[in-house]
Amino acid sequence: MHYDVIVLGAGPGGYLAAERAGHAGLKTMVVEKKNIGGVCLNEGCVPSKTLLNSAKIYEYTKDGQKYGVTCENVLYDQEKVVKRKDKVVKALVSGVQATLKKNKVEIVSGEGSIIGKTSQGFVIKANNEEHSCTNLIIATGSEAIVPPIPGVKESFEKGIVVTNREILSLESVPKKLTVVGGGVIGLEMASYYATVGSKVTVIEMLDRIGGYTDIEIGTILKGNLEKKGINFLLGTKVTRVQDNVVYYEMDGKESTVESDKILLSIGRRANTANIGLEKLSLATERGAVKVDETCQTNVPGVYAVGDVNGKSMLAHTAYREAEVAVNTILGKKDIMRYTAIPSVIYTNPEVASVGETEETAKSKGLDYEVKKISMNYSGRYMAENEGGNGITKVLIEKKYNKIIGIQMIGSYASEIIYGGGIMVETEMLVKDLKEIVFPHPTVSEIIREAIFQ
Ligand code: NAI
Repeated sequence: MHYDVIVLGAGPGGYLAAERAGHAGLKTMVVEKKNIGGVCLNEGCVPSKTLLNSAKIYEYTKDGQKYGVTCENVLYDQEKVVKRKDKVVKALVSGVQATLKKNKVEIVSGEGSIIGKTSQGFVIKANNEEHSCTNLIIATGSEAIVPPIPGVKESFEKGIVVTNREILSLESVPKKLTVVGGGVIGLEMASYYATVGSKVTVIEMLDRIGGYTDIEIGTILKGNLEKKGINFLLGTKVTRVQDNVVYYEMDGKESTVESDKILLSIGRRANTANIGLEKLSLATERGAVKVDETCQTNVPGVYAVGDVNGKSMLAHTAYREAEVAVNTILGKKDIMRYTAIPSVIYTNPEVASVGETEETAKSKGLDYEVKKISMNYSGRYMAENEGGNGITKVLIEKKYNKIIGIQMIGSYASEIIYGGGIMVETEMLVKDLKEIVFPHPTVSEIIREAIFQ
């Protein structure tokens, strides 16, 4: 059978590309070897947010006295929480399946790989059958990096070392949890398990947490997480793992930490193996499929969207890349821009960022100023957060008084930051922001308030 578009992988990049292509009337097939919805829907973004929401309810209920509400015998039932998470995932996966069907996309369950190119177009083997297509979209995602640290493989096989997949389905809350890697996954899971009762240790190689998160905001986050009982070992390297003991080196000295589970969250790598990239001589860069600004590879007609192209490894980036690829196939001019992609860490408190941080602005030699404000200036924040220490920072490029970056730590940051994305994407000037009316009382007003500081 010949298709206008074949998509390999049905995660956020793949399923959205297939939906958009089908919607535009292109004969489309999507091949998925595991679960429709990919990592994001099944073992990433959605399940982790479902767990974190239960933890937030638990935390507020336990701390109810602060707000004049006393609750006794507050219990956390991880088994029920995981069951609810599975229900949410199932409903969303069915939703994606229904949308694909509505857009007349053919779904093939099984492994897909590239066979080569003939006069028919690109030839793909899917579930042991060959098909051809005019356009191919590779959206095979990424997987957790398992480092060559002695003992990790053995402890993984024993179920002591876990990745983002297993940590979301633990039947009970581990008494002690060690998290290797203080990036996004590590912090979200550390925040979750510390809230629901684990004694958590985070081991991070760098001397900061949250990767490229603004240093000041990262420090505030670290303080908040320490208050939940999380112990951070920064500038620390794991040297080996033996069963449930992690050996690490700090200041040249070896120490150990014992725990029931060890989460590995040291980053992800693009899934490029066994998909036949070599059959079309597709170029790669740092282990990911190399693409241009239309998400097209070095072979015209072949695109790579989402984590597999290694550009940003975020589901929302994948969505937009999928649209850019399909628009290019349809002959509509569209290009991918990465300057205003928001990033969020869904800890409690949440951290959200878009555009430049002070660090990146400095490294680019930009002439900028920072408008910084405590979240306590927001009436809504004060009403809802007892003893909160959130802040918002707005970075302004001085020459044109243009907004180039926003960073926040505090409640609703994840929901507010898209507004910051619009400001950075449209290169909004401070004078224009001053004329925009924000609803009151909301935490979002803090961005407008910041520029008057
Ligand atoms: P990450 O790249 O965010 O963080 C990995 C951390 O591990 C870094 O801080 C790194 O310095 C540290 N590290 C590396 N090797 C180490 C070692 N041997 N010992 C100790 N520390 C070590 O990767 P993470 O957290 O695994 O997340 C993977 C991807 O998933 C990211 O690209 C992220 O953007 C995405 N993601 C996004 C989420 C969101 O948007 N909220 C949530 C979860 C994941």
